[in-house]
Amino acid sequence: VKLIEVADFEELSSAAAAIVEQQVLGNSHSVLGLATGSTPIGLYEKMAEGCRQRGVSYKNVQTINLDEYRGLGAGHPNSYRSFMNEHLFNAIDIPPANTHIPDGRAVEVEAECRRYEALIDRIGPPHLQILGLGTNGHIGFNEPGTPENSVTHCVALTDSTRENNARFFASPEEVPTHAITMGIASILKSRKILLLASGAKKAPAVKQFMEQRITGSFPASFLWKHPDVTLIVDEEAYQLVR
Ligand code: F6R
Repeated sequence: VKLIEVADFEELSSAAAAIVEQQVLGNSHSVLGLATGSTPIGLYEKMAEGCRQRGVSYKNVQTINLDEYRGLGAGHPNSYRSFMNEHLFNAIDIPPANTHIPDGRAVEVEAECRRYEALIDRIGPPHLQILGLGTNGHIGFNEPGTPENSVTHCVALTDSTRENNARFFASPEEVPTHAITMGIASILKSRKILLLASGAKKAPAVKQFMEQRITGSFPASFLWKHPDVTLIVDEEAYQLVR
């Protein structure tokens, strides 16, 4: 794992955007694996800026998002589809048809998971996968205990994850109980992985990640098995490591 230490969220976002833009400028048909949550919001702002002001085009890029809440779709303001449209897709020149997110509203959830994994294999795997880090070590919605060989599947969210995400909803009860997520094996298919962690809240998880002990109780630790992972951390997130 290659480590990049930066001062703060602003620098983390710029450093991540530089890596994404280098990928897209090097291959205009790049496939990007994307995440939602607070961490990549600054990165997405920088990508939008790059597209508007510096001519970085996403016209031929395809994107594959990690996950979606079960039951929510484009019409719901808290769906990850809405999040991505708002924070990135509407602000860059990517054709909507090139953006892929699991269909949280699919009636046949198992079939949707199979369709999505096949899509990853067909148009992907991503050249570059962006990941945030859960406080409990989750990546995507792969909570502790998720098998290493998991592919796209439907999961019950843990209480800690639902609480962490409640800030986006009007009330905690509105946070969906299930999600569709790429599995650990699906994530590890990506050619390069960019893991981002910002803020003091992530410091314990970053510390555990840096211990390099591969364990199912801390899913992000499986990233140590991948040959090309870059971790960008800011000072607050890295404060427990030294
Ligand atoms: C988001 C995702 C999650 C988040 C993680 C960190 O698509 O799959 O694993 O990356 O929960 O969330 P934030 O960035 O909000 O701290």
